[in-house]
Order: sequence, then C-alpha cells, then structure tokens
Amino acid sequence: MPKLEPMPDDNMYQAYGIYLLESKHRLIKRLKKNFQPSVHGHKAWNASFLLMDYLQTNPIAKKSRVLEVGCGWGPAAVYAATRFNAKVTGLDIDREVFPFLDVLAELNGVKIDSMVRRFETLKGKELAKFDVIIGSDVCFWDSMVTPLTQLVNRSMKNGVKRFIVTDPGRPTFYEFCDLARQKHNVELMEWYSTEPNHFTGEVVEITPRN
Ligand SMILES: C[S@@+](CC[C@H](N)C(=O)[O-])C[C@H]1O[C@@H](n2cnc3c(N)ncnc32)[C@H](O)[C@@H]1O
Repeated sequence: MPKLEPMPDDNMYQAYGIYLLESKHRLIKRLKKNFQPSVHGHKAWNASFLLMDYLQTNPIAKKSRVLEVGCGWGPAAVYAATRFNAKVTGLDIDREVFPFLDVLAELNGVKIDSMVRRFETLKGKELAKFDVIIGSDVCFWDSMVTPLTQLVNRSMKNGVKRFIVTDPGRPTFYEFCDLARQKHNVELMEWYSTEPNHFTGEVVEITPRN
C-alpha cells in the first residue's frame, strides 16, 4: 500500500495515489457557482474507486489509448493517466462536468482530452482509436442498457481490446452484462475498494470472442 502524503490543502484527499477534492473544497465551491452538472456528474462516485482498484490488479498496458465514457469529474481517467501514462479521453454528455475534470487533472499533473458527446453517437471509426474503454456508474437508467451494449458491440468490432465497467450493482448493470455475454467474453466479478473508504460493488471486463 503506498504511503499517504500529508494533504497540502483542506478538503483534499487521496485514493489510489491520486489527489481528489471534496465538494466543500473552495475550488469546487467556486466552480459550482458557474457549472452545475445535471446528469449525476456532480461528484466522484464510489464506482470510480472500484475501477481504480480493479486496474491496480489488472493494469492497462503502458501508454494505451483510453476512453472513459460518462467520465463526470473523471477520477478514473485521471488515475489511468497518472498510473499507466495512458493517453486518456474523457467523454460525457454534460459539458458542465469538464471544468471539474480539468481541476482534478491539473491537481494531479496530467492532461485529459475532453469530448462532449453521448456515448451512443460514437462511430466505429472513432472507437478504433482506443485500446481500452472504461466507465464507472454509467448504466443507471433502463434507457442506457441497449445503447451501452451496442457501444460494446461497435467497440469490439473496431479493435478495442478491453471494455471495463464498474457499478454499485444496479439491475440495469446486470442486464447490460447479460446482453454483452451473448456476443463477447464477459467476466463479471464482485469487487471492493479500500480507498478512500471500503466500498463493495461489481466490475465487468468484456473482451472480444475470437
Ligand atoms: C453517475 S455519474 C458517474 C461519473 C463518473 N464516471 C464517476 O464514477 O464519478 C454518470 C455520468 O454519466 C454521464 N452520462 C449519462 N448519460 C450519458 C450518455 N448517454 N453519454 C455520455 N455520458 C453520459 C453523466 O453526465 C454523468 O457524468
């Protein structure tokens, strides 16, 4: 376990070697006056820590091209860039999340490219530019199950090697895993994270069927 450094600032914390900010941090409070994410992208969700823990055990190849879908504040994107020197793009439907992502990236000394898009609009050619696609807590409505499954199908068809999603364990997430299993290798596991707090949920890793 890495030694935790003393926090240089109030309302800042560390998890899996990256710095994060609490909602009551002065920078976040200031950003919230001007930017209000409206599709649940208003904090770092616990599933993002599951993703960090999973990737710590199952690392991304160095310098991979990574896309985080539904990135919100992008904690997992920042982790992938910091830990694996990955070239990371954060995609979100809600442009108001990006000022928060930019602050977290800056705080951790990494650069994350941003894309304001619905993940369902990503074309095969665009997906072909990524090796790994990640997402945490991005299957929370019934209406997301089919588009996310179709995104997996297009990704696998266009050379994406790993598609990894973490979730607290919502019925919609299990439905997504069942649909993905019809065409691809699907490994669904119960997982837990230990930083910043103990949290239990699910991780699915989807890879192409040869
Ligand atoms: C529960 S938050 C999770 C944010 C981040 N992944 C985390 O774990 O902290 C869900 C995110 O997905 C985004 N989102 C919802 N539907 C989307 C869609 N169709 N395409 C892209 N992003 C979407 C929301 O704007 C929000 O930022």
